[in-house]
Amino acid sequence: MHKIAVIPGDGTGPEVVREGLKVLEAVSKKFDFKYETEEFDWGGDRYLKTGEVLPEDAIKTLKKFNAIFLGAIGHPDVKPGILEKGILLKIRFDLEQYINLRPVKLYPGVWTPVKDKGPEEIDFVVVRENNEGLYKGMGEFQNKDTKDEVAIQVSYNTRKGVERCIRYAFEFCKKRNKRKELTLCGKTNVLTYAWDLWQRTFDEVAKEYADIKTDYTHVDATCMWFIKNPEWFDVIVTDNMFGDIITDLGAMIQGGMGIAAGGNINPEGVSMFEPIGGSAPKYTGKGVINPLAAIGALQMLLEHLGEEEAGAAIEKAIEHVTANKLKSLSAGKMGYSTSQVGDLVVESLG
Ligand code: IPM
Ligand code: MN
Repeated sequence: MHKIAVIPGDGTGPEVVREGLKVLEAVSKKFDFKYETEEFDWGGDRYLKTGEVLPEDAIKTLKKFNAIFLGAIGHPDVKPGILEKGILLKIRFDLEQYINLRPVKLYPGVWTPVKDKGPEEIDFVVVRENNEGLYKGMGEFQNKDTKDEVAIQVSYNTRKGVERCIRYAFEFCKKRNKRKELTLCGKTNVLTYAWDLWQRTFDEVAKEYADIKTDYTHVDATCMWFIKNPEWFDVIVTDNMFGDIITDLGAMIQGGMGIAAGGNINPEGVSMFEPIGGSAPKYTGKGVINPLAAIGALQMLLEHLGEEEAGAAIEKAIEHVTANKLKSLSAGKMGYSTSQVGDLVVESLG
Protein backbone atom coordinates (compact mmCIF):
# COMPACT_ATOMS: atom_id res chain seq x y z
CA MET A 1 0.00 0.00 0.00
CA HIS A 2 1.46 3.33 -1.07
CA LYS A 3 0.58 6.16 1.31
CA ILE A 4 0.66 9.42 -0.57
CA ALA A 5 0.38 12.88 1.02
CA VAL A 6 -1.28 15.36 -1.33
CA ILE A 7 -0.64 19.10 -1.04
CA PRO A 8 -2.66 20.80 -3.80
CA GLY A 9 -1.45 24.23 -2.61
CA ASP A 10 -2.14 27.53 -4.30
CA GLY A 11 -3.45 28.91 -7.58
CA THR A 12 -3.76 26.28 -10.28
CA GLY A 13 -2.16 23.66 -8.00
CA PRO A 14 -5.48 22.04 -7.02
CA GLU A 15 -6.67 21.89 -10.66
CA VAL A 16 -3.59 20.07 -11.91
CA VAL A 17 -3.33 17.81 -8.86
CA ARG A 18 -6.92 16.68 -9.49
CA GLU A 19 -5.88 15.43 -12.95
CA GLY A 20 -2.83 13.72 -11.51
CA LEU A 21 -5.03 11.88 -9.03
CA LYS A 22 -7.38 10.90 -11.84
CA VAL A 23 -4.48 9.27 -13.64
CA LEU A 24 -3.30 7.66 -10.38
CA GLU A 25 -6.67 6.00 -9.89
CA ALA A 26 -6.66 4.71 -13.46
CA VAL A 27 -3.13 3.26 -13.37
CA SER A 28 -3.66 1.69 -9.96
CA LYS A 29 -6.50 -0.37 -11.43
CA LYS A 30 -4.62 -1.21 -14.59
CA PHE A 31 -1.43 -2.25 -12.82
CA ASP A 32 -3.12 -3.59 -9.75
CA PHE A 33 -1.52 -1.71 -6.89
CA LYS A 34 -3.11 -0.17 -3.82
CA TYR A 35 -2.70 3.33 -2.53
CA GLU A 36 -4.31 5.79 -0.19
CA THR A 37 -4.09 9.56 -0.22
CA GLU A 38 -4.50 12.20 2.44
CA GLU A 39 -4.93 15.81 1.46
CA PHE A 40 -3.44 18.81 3.29
CA ASP A 41 -4.72 22.35 2.81
CA TRP A 42 -1.32 24.01 3.29
CA GLY A 43 -0.79 27.11 1.20
CA GLY A 44 -1.64 30.78 0.82
CA ASP A 45 -5.36 30.65 1.59
CA ARG A 46 -4.83 28.81 4.84
CA TYR A 47 -2.03 31.22 5.79
CA LEU A 48 -4.23 34.26 5.13
CA LYS A 49 -7.03 32.75 7.22
CA THR A 50 -5.00 31.42 10.16
CA GLY A 51 -1.69 33.30 10.08
CA GLU A 52 0.09 29.96 10.19
CA VAL A 53 2.28 28.84 7.28
CA LEU A 54 2.52 25.20 8.32
CA PRO A 55 1.11 23.38 11.34
CA GLU A 56 3.76 22.62 13.93
CA ASP A 57 3.68 18.88 13.35
CA ALA A 58 3.65 19.10 9.54
CA ILE A 59 7.07 17.55 8.99
CA LYS A 60 6.39 14.79 11.50
CA THR A 61 3.11 14.10 9.72
CA LEU A 62 4.75 13.95 6.28
CA LYS A 63 7.31 11.43 7.54
CA LYS A 64 4.50 8.86 7.82
CA PHE A 65 3.96 8.82 4.06
CA ASN A 66 5.79 7.03 1.27
CA ALA A 67 5.74 10.09 -0.99
CA ILE A 68 4.29 13.58 -1.37
CA PHE A 69 2.44 14.95 -4.39
CA LEU A 70 2.56 18.76 -4.49
CA GLY A 71 0.64 21.13 -6.75
CA ALA A 72 2.09 24.62 -6.37
CA ILE A 73 3.08 27.11 -3.67
CA GLY A 74 2.80 30.90 -4.14
CA HIS A 75 -0.10 33.31 -3.58
CA PRO A 76 -0.55 36.82 -5.07
CA ASP A 77 -1.76 38.25 -1.72
CA VAL A 78 1.18 36.93 0.30
CA LYS A 79 4.56 38.64 0.27
CA PRO A 80 7.03 36.65 -1.86
CA GLY A 81 9.22 34.36 0.21
CA ILE A 82 6.87 33.58 3.10
CA LEU A 83 5.15 30.56 1.57
CA GLU A 84 8.13 29.54 -0.57
CA LYS A 85 10.45 29.46 2.45
CA GLY A 86 7.84 28.38 4.96
CA ILE A 87 6.38 25.49 3.00
CA LEU A 88 8.31 24.42 -0.10
CA LEU A 89 11.88 25.01 1.07
CA LYS A 90 11.04 23.89 4.61
CA ILE A 91 9.82 20.53 3.35
CA ARG A 92 12.80 20.16 1.00
CA PHE A 93 15.23 20.94 3.85
CA ASP A 94 13.58 19.27 6.82
CA LEU A 95 12.91 16.04 4.96
CA GLU A 96 16.47 16.18 3.60
CA GLN A 97 15.32 15.97 0.02
CA TYR A 98 18.83 16.72 -1.11
CA ILE A 99 18.26 16.01 -4.79
CA ASN A 100 16.06 17.98 -7.15
CA LEU A 101 15.70 15.80 -10.21
CA ARG A 102 14.49 17.58 -13.33
CA PRO A 103 14.21 15.75 -16.63
CA VAL A 104 14.29 17.92 -19.75
CA LYS A 105 12.70 15.85 -22.46
CA LEU A 106 10.99 17.08 -25.58
CA TYR A 107 8.00 14.87 -26.33
CA PRO A 108 6.85 14.18 -29.89
CA GLY A 109 4.57 16.83 -31.35
CA VAL A 110 5.67 19.47 -28.86
CA TRP A 111 6.81 22.83 -30.15
CA THR A 112 10.23 23.96 -28.97
CA PRO A 113 11.57 27.48 -29.49
CA VAL A 114 14.91 25.92 -30.46
CA LYS A 115 14.91 25.69 -34.23
CA ASP A 116 15.91 22.43 -35.91
CA LYS A 117 15.97 20.43 -32.66
CA GLY A 118 13.57 17.61 -31.90
CA PRO A 119 12.98 14.80 -29.38
CA GLU A 120 16.24 13.17 -30.53
CA GLU A 121 18.24 16.19 -29.46
CA ILE A 122 16.45 17.30 -26.30
CA ASP A 123 16.58 14.55 -23.73
CA PHE A 124 18.68 15.10 -20.62
CA VAL A 125 18.30 15.28 -16.86
CA VAL A 126 19.46 17.92 -14.39
CA VAL A 127 20.45 16.74 -10.92
CA ARG A 128 20.19 19.87 -8.78
CA GLU A 129 21.55 19.96 -5.23
CA ASN A 130 18.49 20.85 -3.14
CA ASN A 131 19.54 21.61 0.44
CA GLU A 132 22.56 23.93 0.36
CA GLY A 133 24.29 26.66 -1.63
CA LEU A 134 22.70 30.10 -1.72
CA TYR A 135 19.40 28.56 -0.60
CA LYS A 136 20.82 27.88 2.85
CA GLY A 137 19.72 31.39 3.83
CA MET A 138 23.05 32.37 5.38
CA GLY A 139 24.04 36.01 5.37
CA GLU A 140 23.40 39.35 6.94
CA PHE A 141 22.73 43.02 6.47
CA GLN A 142 25.35 45.48 7.59
CA ASN A 143 24.47 49.13 8.19
CA LYS A 144 20.90 48.39 7.14
CA ASP A 145 18.95 51.32 5.71
CA THR A 146 22.00 53.55 5.49
CA LYS A 147 23.89 54.62 2.39
CA ASP A 148 26.65 52.22 3.43
CA GLU A 149 24.38 49.20 3.54
CA VAL A 150 25.88 45.84 2.64
CA ALA A 151 23.85 42.69 2.03
CA ILE A 152 25.77 39.43 2.26
CA GLN A 153 24.31 36.16 0.94
CA VAL A 154 26.50 33.14 1.42
CA SER A 155 26.75 30.02 -0.68
CA TYR A 156 27.13 27.22 1.83
CA ASN A 157 28.60 23.96 0.52
CA THR A 158 29.56 21.01 2.70
CA ARG A 159 31.77 18.18 1.51
CA LYS A 160 29.06 15.73 2.65
CA GLY A 161 26.29 17.64 0.91
CA VAL A 162 28.23 18.02 -2.32
CA GLU A 163 29.44 14.43 -2.32
CA ARG A 164 26.04 12.83 -1.77
CA CYS A 165 24.64 14.88 -4.63
CA ILE A 166 27.48 13.98 -6.97
CA ARG A 167 27.27 10.30 -6.01
CA TYR A 168 23.54 10.33 -6.72
CA ALA A 169 24.22 11.87 -10.13
CA PHE A 170 26.79 9.21 -11.05
CA GLU A 171 24.47 6.41 -9.94
CA PHE A 172 21.56 7.99 -11.78
CA CYS A 173 23.62 8.36 -14.96
CA LYS A 174 24.65 4.71 -14.75
CA LYS A 175 21.10 3.54 -14.20
CA ARG A 176 19.74 5.78 -16.95
CA ASN A 177 22.16 3.96 -19.25
CA LYS A 178 21.89 6.30 -22.21
CA ARG A 179 25.05 8.15 -23.22
CA LYS A 180 26.59 7.58 -19.81
CA GLU A 181 27.96 11.08 -19.67
CA LEU A 182 27.86 13.26 -16.58
CA THR A 183 28.53 16.99 -16.86
CA LEU A 184 29.43 19.11 -13.86
CA CYS A 185 27.93 22.58 -14.34
CA GLY A 186 29.56 25.28 -12.22
CA LYS A 187 31.62 28.44 -12.16
CA THR A 188 35.19 27.38 -11.31
CA ASN A 189 36.64 30.49 -12.93
CA VAL A 190 35.06 32.91 -10.44
CA LEU A 191 33.52 31.13 -7.45
CA THR A 192 36.83 29.61 -6.44
CA TYR A 193 35.82 28.25 -3.03
CA ALA A 194 32.53 26.56 -3.74
CA TRP A 195 33.44 25.23 -7.16
CA ASP A 196 36.87 24.08 -6.10
CA LEU A 197 35.15 21.81 -3.60
CA TRP A 198 32.63 20.67 -6.19
CA GLN A 199 35.32 19.98 -8.80
CA ARG A 200 37.60 18.09 -6.40
CA THR A 201 34.73 15.99 -5.13
CA PHE A 202 33.49 15.31 -8.65
CA ASP A 203 36.96 14.20 -9.82
CA GLU A 204 37.39 11.91 -6.83
CA VAL A 205 34.01 10.22 -7.15
CA ALA A 206 34.51 9.92 -10.92
CA LYS A 207 37.39 7.48 -10.29
CA GLU A 208 34.82 4.97 -9.02
CA TYR A 209 32.84 5.19 -12.26
CA ALA A 210 35.22 4.25 -15.05
CA ASP A 211 32.29 3.59 -17.41
CA ILE A 212 30.86 7.13 -17.08
CA LYS A 213 32.37 9.85 -19.24
CA THR A 214 32.72 13.15 -17.42
CA ASP A 215 32.77 16.73 -18.52
CA TYR A 216 32.66 20.23 -17.04
CA THR A 217 30.90 23.37 -18.30
CA HIS A 218 30.56 26.80 -16.75
CA VAL A 219 26.94 27.69 -15.97
CA ASP A 220 26.84 30.60 -18.42
CA ALA A 221 28.16 28.41 -21.22
CA THR A 222 25.67 25.72 -20.20
CA CYS A 223 22.84 28.15 -20.99
CA MET A 224 24.38 28.73 -24.36
CA TRP A 225 24.69 25.02 -25.14
CA PHE A 226 21.11 24.31 -23.99
CA ILE A 227 20.03 26.41 -26.97
CA LYS A 228 22.76 25.65 -29.48
CA ASN A 229 23.57 21.98 -28.80
CA PRO A 230 21.17 20.45 -26.27
CA GLU A 231 22.10 17.02 -27.68
CA TRP A 232 25.47 17.31 -25.96
CA PHE A 233 23.89 16.62 -22.58
CA ASP A 234 22.91 13.37 -20.90
CA VAL A 235 23.00 14.06 -17.13
CA ILE A 236 24.07 17.36 -15.56
CA VAL A 237 24.90 17.85 -11.89
CA THR A 238 24.96 21.33 -10.37
CA ASP A 239 24.31 23.36 -7.23
CA ASN A 240 21.00 24.68 -5.96
CA MET A 241 21.01 28.17 -7.49
CA PHE A 242 22.45 27.23 -10.87
CA GLY A 243 20.07 24.26 -10.97
CA ASP A 244 17.12 26.55 -10.34
CA ILE A 245 18.10 28.80 -13.22
CA ILE A 246 19.11 26.27 -15.84
CA THR A 247 16.02 24.13 -15.26
CA ASP A 248 13.73 27.05 -16.12
CA LEU A 249 15.64 27.34 -19.37
CA GLY A 250 15.39 23.56 -19.70
CA ALA A 251 11.63 23.74 -19.19
CA MET A 252 11.34 26.24 -22.03
CA ILE A 253 13.22 24.09 -24.54
CA GLN A 254 11.10 21.05 -23.64
CA GLY A 255 7.93 22.95 -24.43
CA GLY A 256 7.25 25.11 -21.39
CA MET A 257 6.00 25.00 -17.83
CA GLY A 258 2.98 22.99 -18.92
CA ILE A 259 5.10 19.85 -19.21
CA ALA A 260 8.05 20.30 -16.80
CA ALA A 261 8.04 18.03 -13.76
CA GLY A 262 10.50 17.41 -10.98
CA GLY A 263 11.21 15.37 -7.89
CA ASN A 264 12.62 16.49 -4.55
CA ILE A 265 14.32 13.30 -3.51
CA ASN A 266 15.64 11.89 -0.29
CA PRO A 267 16.84 8.46 -1.43
CA GLU A 268 16.57 7.19 2.15
CA GLY A 269 13.45 9.10 3.18
CA VAL A 270 10.26 10.74 1.97
CA SER A 271 10.37 12.39 -1.46
CA MET A 272 8.11 15.02 -2.99
CA PHE A 273 7.08 15.39 -6.62
CA GLU A 274 5.77 18.54 -8.27
CA PRO A 275 5.13 20.32 -11.53
CA ILE A 276 7.82 23.01 -11.53
CA GLY A 277 5.73 25.79 -13.03
CA GLY A 278 4.31 27.47 -9.96
CA SER A 279 0.80 28.56 -9.06
CA ALA A 280 0.00 30.64 -12.20
CA PRO A 281 -2.54 32.92 -10.44
CA LYS A 282 -3.82 34.47 -13.66
CA TYR A 283 -5.09 31.10 -14.91
CA THR A 284 -6.55 29.97 -11.59
CA GLY A 285 -10.02 28.46 -11.69
CA LYS A 286 -10.41 28.81 -15.44
CA GLY A 287 -9.81 25.17 -16.34
CA VAL A 288 -7.24 26.14 -18.96
CA ILE A 289 -3.97 25.20 -17.28
CA ASN A 290 -2.01 22.24 -18.66
CA PRO A 291 -2.01 19.33 -16.20
CA LEU A 292 0.67 17.31 -18.03
CA ALA A 293 3.48 18.59 -15.78
CA ALA A 294 1.56 17.41 -12.72
CA ILE A 295 0.81 14.09 -14.43
CA GLY A 296 4.53 13.83 -15.25
CA ALA A 297 5.32 14.48 -11.60
CA LEU A 298 2.94 11.70 -10.63
CA GLN A 299 4.75 9.43 -13.10
CA MET A 300 8.05 10.21 -11.35
CA LEU A 301 6.42 9.60 -7.97
CA LEU A 302 5.21 6.15 -9.01
CA GLU A 303 8.55 5.20 -10.53
CA HIS A 304 10.17 6.27 -7.27
CA LEU A 305 7.81 3.97 -5.37
CA GLY A 306 8.80 1.07 -7.62
CA GLU A 307 5.76 1.15 -9.92
CA GLU A 308 7.97 1.21 -13.00
CA GLU A 309 5.37 -0.25 -15.35
CA ALA A 310 2.72 2.24 -14.32
CA GLY A 311 5.23 5.06 -14.74
CA ALA A 312 6.20 3.89 -18.22
CA ALA A 313 2.54 3.62 -19.20
CA ILE A 314 1.87 7.18 -18.05
CA GLU A 315 4.81 8.46 -20.04
CA LYS A 316 3.61 6.66 -23.17
CA ALA A 317 0.15 8.11 -22.66
CA ILE A 318 1.56 11.63 -22.26
CA GLU A 319 3.55 11.15 -25.47
CA HIS A 320 0.45 9.93 -27.26
CA VAL A 321 -1.48 12.99 -26.12
CA THR A 322 1.25 15.48 -27.10
CA ALA A 323 1.82 13.80 -30.45
CA ASN A 324 -1.81 13.34 -31.46
CA LYS A 325 -4.15 15.57 -29.47
CA LEU A 326 -2.93 18.87 -28.07
CA LYS A 327 -2.61 21.89 -30.33
CA SER A 328 -0.20 23.55 -27.92
CA LEU A 329 1.06 22.99 -24.38
CA SER A 330 0.30 26.56 -23.33
CA ALA A 331 -2.53 27.40 -20.98
CA GLY A 332 -5.69 28.24 -22.91
CA LYS A 333 -4.29 27.07 -26.22
CA MET A 334 -4.37 23.31 -25.83
CA GLY A 335 -7.66 22.85 -27.66
CA TYR A 336 -8.94 21.08 -24.52
CA SER A 337 -9.72 22.00 -20.93
CA THR A 338 -7.55 20.94 -17.99
CA SER A 339 -9.84 18.07 -17.10
CA GLN A 340 -10.22 16.96 -20.74
CA VAL A 341 -6.44 16.64 -20.96
CA GLY A 342 -6.54 14.45 -17.84
CA ASP A 343 -9.23 12.34 -19.52
CA LEU A 344 -7.14 12.04 -22.69
CA VAL A 345 -4.20 10.71 -20.69
CA VAL A 346 -6.44 8.18 -18.94
CA GLU A 347 -7.92 7.04 -22.30
CA SER A 348 -4.44 6.76 -23.77
CA LEU A 349 -3.36 4.37 -21.03
CA GLY A 350 -5.04 1.74 -23.21
C1 IPM B 1 11.63 25.95 -8.06
C2 IPM B 1 11.09 27.25 -7.57
C3 IPM B 1 11.49 27.45 -6.13
C4 IPM B 1 13.00 27.44 -6.06
C5 IPM B 1 10.91 28.69 -5.46
C6 IPM B 1 9.41 28.76 -5.60
C7 IPM B 1 11.33 28.81 -4.02
O1 IPM B 1 11.53 28.30 -8.38
O2 IPM B 1 11.19 24.90 -7.55
O3 IPM B 1 12.50 25.93 -8.93
O4 IPM B 1 13.63 28.49 -6.23
O5 IPM B 1 13.57 26.37 -5.85
MN1 MN C 1 12.77 27.66 -10.02
